[in-house]
Amino acid sequence: FKSKAMLSLISCYKRMWPRSVKIILIIAVLAIIAVVAKHELTVEPLVNNSVISTILSRLNFLETENEQLKESISTLENTKKKYLDTKFLTENDRKRILVTGGAGFVGSHLVDKLMMMGHEVTVVDNFFTGRKRNVEHWIGHENFELIHHDVISPLFIEVDQIYHLACPASPPHYMYNPVKTIKTSSMGTMNMLGLAKRVRATMLLASTSEIYGDPEEHPQKETYWGHVNPIGPRACYDEGKRVAETMCYAYSSQDKVDVRVARIFNTFGPRMHMQDGRVVSNFILQSLQNEPITIYGNGEQTRSFQYVTDLVNGLIALMNSKVNTPVNIGNPEEHTISEFATLIRNLTKSKSEIVHKATPTDDPRKRKPDITKAKTSLGWEPVVELETGLKKTIAYFKAELEQESGNQ
Ligand SMILES: NC(=O)c1ccc[n+]([C@@H]2O[C@H](COP(=O)([O-])OP(=O)(O)OC[C@H]3O[C@@H](n4cnc5c(N)ncnc54)[C@H](O)[C@@H]3O)[C@@H](O)[C@H]2O)c1
Repeated sequence: FKSKAMLSLISCYKRMWPRSVKIILIIAVLAIIAVVAKHELTVEPLVNNSVISTILSRLNFLETENEQLKESISTLENTKKKYLDTKFLTENDRKRILVTGGAGFVGSHLVDKLMMMGHEVTVVDNFFTGRKRNVEHWIGHENFELIHHDVISPLFIEVDQIYHLACPASPPHYMYNPVKTIKTSSMGTMNMLGLAKRVRATMLLASTSEIYGDPEEHPQKETYWGHVNPIGPRACYDEGKRVAETMCYAYSSQDKVDVRVARIFNTFGPRMHMQDGRVVSNFILQSLQNEPITIYGNGEQTRSFQYVTDLVNGLIALMNSKVNTPVNIGNPEEHTISEFATLIRNLTKSKSEIVHKATPTDDPRKRKPDITKAKTSLGWEPVVELETGLKKTIAYFKAELEQESGNQ
């Protein structure tokens, strides 16, 4: 009877619990066993004192590490490169601007102004007379790019405006390799005009008062055609700039390139090349070193000098105007070379004596811009006093000389 009852119980159980339910039950039991086992394994050591103290010491260590990291971050933030203030411009107002020769004297001041105005600036330079140091304060800024490139090779880049300044400007530099100078003015300008044509950019050429040569008209108006010796030692520069102007107007009439031509007169200021070889830098260096101040000729020849920030404002005003014919940008305040020598000697409190030497070939006797056109069409005129500009330039040269002597 017992075995009979057992058999009927088993068959009843089989009927009540189908196979699938049994499998699920077995899995559930196994899962419970696993959870319990795990709990036993992990909870058990937690109650162990030595493990707790290890964890606590680890937490302390992480806390100290966190403090050290915070300290390093704040040190990094304090030593982070600081840039001059730049304005924020919206996408519509912000221009992509190329400055060739942007690591040079004038170019680097132009770059400063354009960057501070909030534009995106790309500098192209072969560093013949320019230096990275002149623009190093912008390196790393999101709106700034520096490209080592020679303008006698073509350049492909998307820009809205081109300030074409690449060309050595002082006689010792442009006479050092006259063939290269003429190539820079001719092939370099053609490449930049080709670029302006492709991307429909406006191109401003940094031309020069040298295109007037040794002028027979005084002061010089933009309508004056000039008096240039085409085969003299200065011709590589003077004629180079003349042909560059010619190219601008050929591209303008034939290919509708929007051009601006700035006829720049003598300019001075900080970041001028120490071996510039022109009156201002020569006189300042000689005075600061108490060496004789050299005047070529009798000193009665005249020059007019503008301070570099005035020039930069003139270039930007011209670029953003509709004036596509040449414009003189210079300071009409005329001084004799002797006056410059005396003024600089006084400002530097120098003991230098003034000596006279023979005049170099093709040295112009007079140079003074007529800036009526710039005044009326651009609303521009120089504002920086000669003495103010000279003091800033003297301070720059003094610092350079001190740095040089510190390095020796
Ligand atoms: N400073 C003045 O008094 C003055 C007067 C008249 C005209 N300008 C004109 O203004 C411009 C700038 O003059 P600056 O006084 O600043 O002279 P700069 O010599 O200091 O600057 C010229 C820049 O052009 C670069 N450069 C030269 N040849 C190049 C080439 N083939 N490819 C790429 N870069 C090249 C130089 O490395 C330098 O950075 C020049 O075009 C010059 O003719 C200047």
